[in-house]
Amino acid sequence: MPILCVANQKGGVGKTTTAVNLAAGLARRGQRVLLIDLDIQGSATVTLGAMPSNGELSVAECLTAERPLSEVIRDTATEGLKLAPAGERLAVVDIHLATALAREHVLKRCLASSLPHFDHVVIDTAPYLGLLTLNALVAADHVLIPVSCEYLPILGLKLFNETLARIRVSLGVPCDVLGYLLTMYDRRERITAEVEEILRRNFGSAVFPQPIRISTRHKAAPSHRKTIYEFERASGRGRVDHERLCDEVIDRLKVRTEQSFARLFETPEAAQPRARSSASEVG
Ligand SMILES: Nc1ncnc2c1ncn2[C@@H]1O[C@H](COP(=O)(O)OP(=O)(O)OP(=O)(O)O)[C@@H](O)[C@H]1O
Ligand SMILES: [Mg+2]
Repeated sequence: MPILCVANQKGGVGKTTTAVNLAAGLARRGQRVLLIDLDIQGSATVTLGAMPSNGELSVAECLTAERPLSEVIRDTATEGLKLAPAGERLAVVDIHLATALAREHVLKRCLASSLPHFDHVVIDTAPYLGLLTLNALVAADHVLIPVSCEYLPILGLKLFNETLARIRVSLGVPCDVLGYLLTMYDRRERITAEVEEILRRNFGSAVFPQPIRISTRHKAAPSHRKTIYEFERASGRGRVDHERLCDEVIDRLKVRTEQSFARLFETPEAAQPRARSSASEVG
């Protein structure tokens, strides 16, 4: 069950749009998918029209009382896609987590206890590197990093990559970058080409080949409580872009799985040069 965290500490770069539509896209392909909303703004929960009403449990209660996440999972309008919703109390969870035992691993423990089988788990995160996001990164096998085609998000990437490197070393978790995703891509803007050039020069094939183009449908879909698949015709650019992203994510996850199987049969001598090169690739 690959756990994929959509993260970037920069706000408004397309994390929620990516997480919701990736999760919905995977579910539409017959996969059982759980989307976890770990952002205090609850944007993914709102987009899917699933805000918990008074008294209903949310991810917030799971994390504060370390209850199994299975207790809060609910259906969505997309068949196969379940949601663990953010709740209003998520805003104060960071304070509770600060005093928890092994505080970066709380979500991981909640996920481990009696979760029904899912083919994929996708986590949407908040635009800051607090304990909630740290819990998401620790629980995840892979990180997908959306980067909007603007100047400031590019600057923030250096800090984010340094944080990932520190987490890998100090907490011993993979934080494998599945890919950088160019979002709000507008070919008419010069800055788009500049940002794309910088990303591809620095991260090469780690950048997803196809960007998510700018589209008014993406802006409007959340206010109708709809995923792009429910809101746009099949040939619409938002849907086309997200179908492509879904294909690419599935391919990349397959390669990662094959690589980790291959590693099981690797001799210690063969593993050493690879370990050295992956330690030096974070820039
Ligand atoms: N490809 C796109 N084209 C046009 N608008 C987009 C696109 N992707 C996202 N948006 C819009 O941009 C805004 C920010 O997107 P989104 O909420 O996905 O970003 P975020 O990184 O999750 O933000 P936050 O950091 O606040 O959680 C939203 O209004 C969204 O509808
Ligand atoms: Mg968001």
